[in-house]
Amino acid sequence: MPTSENFIGLMSGTSLDGVDGVLACINPQGQLAVQSHAFTAFDAPFKAELMALNQSGPNELHRSALAGNQIARHYANVVHQLLSSSGLQPQDIAAIGAHGQTVRHRPLEFDGNATLERAPVGYTLQLINPSLLAELTGIDVVADFRNRDLAAGGQGAPLVPAFHQGVFGRPASCVAVLNIGGISNLSVLHPDGSVLGWDCGPGNALMDHWCSAHTGAPYDDNGTWSATGRVIPDLLTTLKAEAFLQRLPPKSTGRDLFNPSWLQTRLPSDTPQPQDVQATLTEFTALACANDVKRHAPAAQELIVCGGGALNGQLMQRLAQHLPGVQVVSSELRGLPPLQVEAAAFAWLAAKNLRRETSSLPSVTGARGARVLGAIYPR
Ligand SMILES: Nc1ncnc2c1ncn2[C@@H]1O[C@H](COP(=O)(O)OP(=O)(O)O)[C@@H](O)[C@H]1O
Ligand SMILES: [Mg+2]
Repeated sequence: MPTSENFIGLMSGTSLDGVDGVLACINPQGQLAVQSHAFTAFDAPFKAELMALNQSGPNELHRSALAGNQIARHYANVVHQLLSSSGLQPQDIAAIGAHGQTVRHRPLEFDGNATLERAPVGYTLQLINPSLLAELTGIDVVADFRNRDLAAGGQGAPLVPAFHQGVFGRPASCVAVLNIGGISNLSVLHPDGSVLGWDCGPGNALMDHWCSAHTGAPYDDNGTWSATGRVIPDLLTTLKAEAFLQRLPPKSTGRDLFNPSWLQTRLPSDTPQPQDVQATLTEFTALACANDVKRHAPAAQELIVCGGGALNGQLMQRLAQHLPGVQVVSSELRGLPPLQVEAAAFAWLAAKNLRRETSSLPSVTGARGARVLGAIYPR
């Protein structure tokens, strides 16, 4: 019988803010206790390069490879912070689960000749050099978590609902968990243990873009700026008409869709007040999430919110406003601070991999079956 082991989970999401890492002790039943948390921010030029790599550009293969090396160095930096704050050595860690930086997410890329026998398989691309991370840390690295699910016909995302079930699920009531990163995703945890999950639409990505373009700040701290603006009804209607929001799960998305050009083509021509656009983007983000809760999780009495969006008080207030009868709480109040949840999920996914246990949920991703996710890069 294996005993509890230490794992490190590392996540850098579509917000492009930086790398969150946790060191967690995980027991053989998969129960997890976070020991420490560390964060390293991306500097502005690197963030701009990652943003640029989300779209086709000159010499992108070369630049992607270099960015993957740089990501590995940032990840290693977080690992070293975690080791030193916990007083542990590399040999005390069973493995690192490293997500990498998504620059493309196109799960269903039709090639024109697709038939039922040759179902379309798209691709998803997370930049990281896992070999370099293993070399820099002396710890086994598990990476490439999403591609196996795509190969099995799934969306490859979201991957966190199984973890949400383990941490936040309850035997007596339906709970919904909303992760607001750059993109937002919802998990619906039913009392019988069944789980649904999908990407709702934008999380912080559009609000961050508008805020940084108009105020210079990387994000609208606590939503204070958006609270000074007024929602523009016509713009809100235009944003809400996005077809992705009407699609039924399984579904996932990324900056491939919700990016600055998507917003630009929808802005009114009569130069609106920037704070009014911010208020509208905040309202749009809240509505995209709240409507999915109403539509697909009517039994949920509680919505647990994690990801950096949980720190946006205005967004949380708008969510609560649109969900009367549902208790909207930060994950902090349920035992795991918002910026630790996704990193903890990748520690948990690494443990699943080492134990050769499946961690994808076909009910979420739409894959043919559950698979062991991730590939190992030995220390
Ligand atoms: N105090 C805050 N007020 C408002 N938004 C915040 C705050 N702190 C973090 N955020 C938002 O959360 C984002 C980071 O969230 P995170 O969960 O790391 O997303 P991702 O997984 O996409 O990287 C930031 O880019 C910002 O948009
Ligand atoms: Mg982040």
